Amino acid sequence: MDVEALRALARSLACEAGEQVRAGRPERVEVAATKSNDVDPVTDMDRAVEAQLRRRIAAERPNDAILGEEGDDVAGTSGLTWVLDPIDGTVNYLYGVASYAVSVAVVAGPVDPERWTALAGCVHSVVDGHTWTAARGGGAERDGRPLRVNRPESLARSLLGTGFGYAPERRARQGEVLAHVLPRVRDIRRLGSAAIDLCLLAEGGLDLYYERGLNPWDLAAGALVAAEAGAWVGGLRGRGPGSAMTVAGATPVVTELVRLLEDADADGAEAPAKGAEG
Ligand code: IPD
Ligand code: CA
Ligand code: CA
Repeated sequence: MDVEALRALARSLACEAGEQVRAGRPERVEVAATKSNDVDPVTDMDRAVEAQLRRRIAAERPNDAILGEEGDDVAGTSGLTWVLDPIDGTVNYLYGVASYAVSVAVVAGPVDPERWTALAGCVHSVVDGHTWTAARGGGAERDGRPLRVNRPESLARSLLGTGFGYAPERRARQGEVLAHVLPRVRDIRRLGSAAIDLCLLAEGGLDLYYERGLNPWDLAAGALVAAEAGAWVGGLRGRGPGSAMTVAGATPVVTELVRLLEDADADGAEAPAKGAEG
């Protein structure tokens, strides 16, 4: 498997899509529809960019499968799947907050982050043009510069990235977990794009990261970038990274974070949030 060729294709796809997002963003972005609930938006741009990515992949890699946030699964025969998030950070895109990205990855095996083997990926940050790529065993880089994660001296000195889901009951639980974590770290950042969070971690802009509820397309490229930059990337209770929990950072401090999240039952049951509408 030529993972460097796959990395080059992921980069070309993500950068071209990023140009489409940059050039086409109207001054006021409208919400075209909502998905899981009223605060989970989709814009015309999410749909247009994903459609273009799908056309390009069908032309360049007709035997590969496609899993994308905004469209139906496409079956393939090669055993490889392209995992697409046309805009990761759609709420930021909507409001004009700078942290949003195109995320493109290609994985082998089952289409499940806990079990797949990520081969290559690219996260292209639309506003500043930063482009992070990784190839399995070939390292991670940003715009040609090799990346290495920070080695924080302790949990207490670590800057921690995280994010929240769209469902009120999930957010209520995430707030409780955050209350347990926040007094024990340097500070937290909620930047609004899981893909960028994982790439910032890879280059030392964050020390640690965790989030519950990520979809495969949120983490496919970013988790590979983080891992290839030397991060441990996993879940709680011996599981792999995925929807139940994704944690990333350098050992041994990331192990302390995993323990803290396990103690807080961060992947535990979510009760309906009082007074919130779903
Ligand atoms: C979201 C972003 C956000 C994370 C959410 C994701 P979207 O993706 O990655 O940072 O906290 O869990 O759903 O909806 O903007 O593609
Ligand atoms: Ca996303
Ligand atoms: Ca998205």
